Amino acid sequence: MKFKNASVIGLGYIGLPTAAALATQKISVLGIDVNKQAVDTINKGEIHIVEPELDVAVQAAVTRGYLRASLQPKPADAFLLAVPTPFMDDHEPDLSYIKSAASSIAGVLEPGNLVILESTSPVGTTEKLSRWLAEERPDLTFPHIAGENSDIRVAHCPERVLPGQVMYELVHNDRVIGGITPKCTRAARSLYEIFVRGECVETDAKTAEMCKLTENAARDVNIAFANELSLICDRTDIDVWRLIELANRHPRINILQPGPGVGGHCIAVDPWFIISQSRNLTPLMQAARAINDQKPDWVVKKVNTSIEQIIQDQPQRAREDITIACFGLAFKADIDDLRESPAMDIALKLAAGHTGTVLGIEPNIEALPQKLENSQLKFESVEQALMTADVYVLLVDHKEFRRFNPTTAGKVTVDTRGIWQ
Ligand SMILES: NC(=O)c1ccc[n+]([C@@H]2O[C@H](COP(=O)([O-])OP(=O)(O)OC[C@H]3O[C@@H](n4cnc5c(N)ncnc54)[C@H](O)[C@@H]3O)[C@@H](O)[C@H]2O)c1
Repeated sequence: MKFKNASVIGLGYIGLPTAAALATQKISVLGIDVNKQAVDTINKGEIHIVEPELDVAVQAAVTRGYLRASLQPKPADAFLLAVPTPFMDDHEPDLSYIKSAASSIAGVLEPGNLVILESTSPVGTTEKLSRWLAEERPDLTFPHIAGENSDIRVAHCPERVLPGQVMYELVHNDRVIGGITPKCTRAARSLYEIFVRGECVETDAKTAEMCKLTENAARDVNIAFANELSLICDRTDIDVWRLIELANRHPRINILQPGPGVGGHCIAVDPWFIISQSRNLTPLMQAARAINDQKPDWVVKKVNTSIEQIIQDQPQRAREDITIACFGLAFKADIDDLRESPAMDIALKLAAGHTGTVLGIEPNIEALPQKLENSQLKFESVEQALMTADVYVLLVDHKEFRRFNPTTAGKVTVDTRGIWQ
């Protein structure tokens, strides 16, 4: 299948880099988003999110006329949906963004079009997408009913890029591509081969959906194992990072690292898409979620124990005079993303419970988000925090925090990442 143009629906961390990657290969791309500010920014050749090298790619694509953004879909050879797939309060997947994106493109679909779901989705969602499109366009045939003879091809191709390295990984990672029929798979593959240098591996839609969920559930379970070890090692006074380093010298062992919990919008979310469809079959994944979700509270308790110890050792000290410094608020190292961050959760819980000062240090942002302005957490620089803190809590292994080590200066530390050991 040949593509002259494509439309990417949802211009966030995944959609915009994908649109830029296609446009760089001289495919004419129309990006669609419901956020007018994002649309206007992109049409100026600028970007509204933080991702290295994306600004250069978008500016070049817009200047050369290959990328444009709009609030309104138009006809295109291919449509890629990269809209959010969060979960609701009961951990059930929220597919409303996909449904509304489907509804917005249904009216402009033409026979021969390809529709690809890139959003991370529970098994069966690609087929649901095909059904939703069919309900709005009874004049066209879709692969869940018409099979190989359908007017429209529908496929899933999950994204597995690492924030901070998206522009490289988008091109160099292998892609798993699963259509509702083999013809759908092959059509989607020919689109990705325009810009992907990794291998484009063919499968069916359900396996492609499950593949993405499996990758993140595997990481969640492995991190839960490391987090469980960290509790045992804390009680038995063993350095868990040294332990894991030694165990990983076994040629068939590869344990991940413990931390303050699991955050972000992928690893902490995607296992629920499996669990919600197979509650009775997923005790391991559910246990992993519980272990990782409980770790922030354990860290808070650990910091409170350190404060008790300071007061016991120095009875003249009052609790309200003790300053806690939380180093790192993002959900992982060297990024600015605070969404679903266990570090932020811990810092806010400490700020709410401690009568003294609690400092939040995050070198990748300029200030705390507005909604936290009334919290007891005080935004502070690394230098100032180093001078005033009594308890040093390491929550994120940002490069800036590797340059000093308060333990060597005899400071009280709670290091959840093992970089000051
Ligand atoms: N960010 C990552 O690192 C990452 C990695 C792998 C997979 N994913 C998956 O990719 C998908 C997208 O994630 P993201 O991080 O790009 O999200 P995002 O929030 O950064 O971007 C989504 C965009 O979609 C727009 N949008 C919402 N509803 C829309 C609609 N009906 N029509 C048009 N635009 C709409 C939003 O305004 C937003 O700009 C999710 O399923 C996510 O799980 C993300």
